[in-house]
Amino acid sequence: MSERHDLTVQISGLRHTYESGVEAVAGVDLTIAPAERLAIVGQNGAGKTTLVRHLNGMVRPTEGTVQIGDWNTADKSIAELSHRVGYVFQNPDEQIFARTVSADVAFGPKNLGVDDDEVTARVADALDAVGLAHEADAHPHHLSLSERKRVAIAAVLAMQAPIVVLDEPTTGQDEAGVHLISRIIDDLAARGRTVVAITHDMDFCVENFDRVVVMARGTVRADGRAAEVFAGREALEAAAVEPPQLARLARALGWREAPVDPVQFVDALERRRRA
Ligand SMILES: Nc1ncnc2c1ncn2[C@@H]1O[C@H](COP(=O)(O)OP(=O)(O)OP(=O)(O)O)[C@@H](O)[C@H]1O
Ligand SMILES: [Mg+2]
Repeated sequence: MSERHDLTVQISGLRHTYESGVEAVAGVDLTIAPAERLAIVGQNGAGKTTLVRHLNGMVRPTEGTVQIGDWNTADKSIAELSHRVGYVFQNPDEQIFARTVSADVAFGPKNLGVDDDEVTARVADALDAVGLAHEADAHPHHLSLSERKRVAIAAVLAMQAPIVVLDEPTTGQDEAGVHLISRIIDDLAARGRTVVAITHDMDFCVENFDRVVVMARGTVRADGRAAEVFAGREALEAAAVEPPQLARLARALGWREAPVDPVQFVDALERRRRA
């Protein structure tokens, strides 16, 4: 099990233009520290998925570099990068291919050369974590979209990479599913893993992530702690991002700060009472 790691993600001057001519990433510099929990938000087509797919080599820089610790991703294959970065696809149907849930989850660790007993244990743990232990023998196509999304998450958990990237993990999840994913993120963080997630759910974002990056048109428009980022209007408007509930309430009350959780909100209220 890879516990605390020291792999910094360093994205420098990154640009990516697809063959169609669309420049999806248009100059991004971003450093992600080991064990950081970072959320990336921004409207559809902002370039979020394209950006994070550079971390595991599925997309290659047109310009600029992506370093994962001492590795320049340009020199590494997807298979090599999978030792350091696990990526859960936005659309699970692009990721899942085996005939049973357990075979799909076993595929990654097997390919990493993990021995059979350890693979079996990892599959059991990962399916347990995503609440699908009872579906181990099911055909993935017989599961719902939210369950398939959780199979995709389990497949990446079983690889135990030090850096985990979740592309819209809460899509299609009900409240229980969202809660389960929050627990998985807590657990990854407790093990010292770096967790990067793309999300459109701002409440999920502030409940689970310390740092928020706002993207619009292939660039980073804001980057900081949630309370700072959600207090700034310009970047959010450029990215068509609605702040989380409590920050919106604060804004409606004419406050300048943007409390993102109940404790911050009550603190801000107390300060106002005293003033
Ligand atoms: N494989 C591809 N080939 C060509 N263009 C693509 C490809 N994937 C994405 N794009 C384009 O690149 C731009 C950025 O897309 P990307 O999927 O990275 O954005 P996103 O922020 O993840 O959006 P969403 O929130 O909808 O998932 C969009 O204009 C999109 O149409
Ligand atoms: Mg996307």
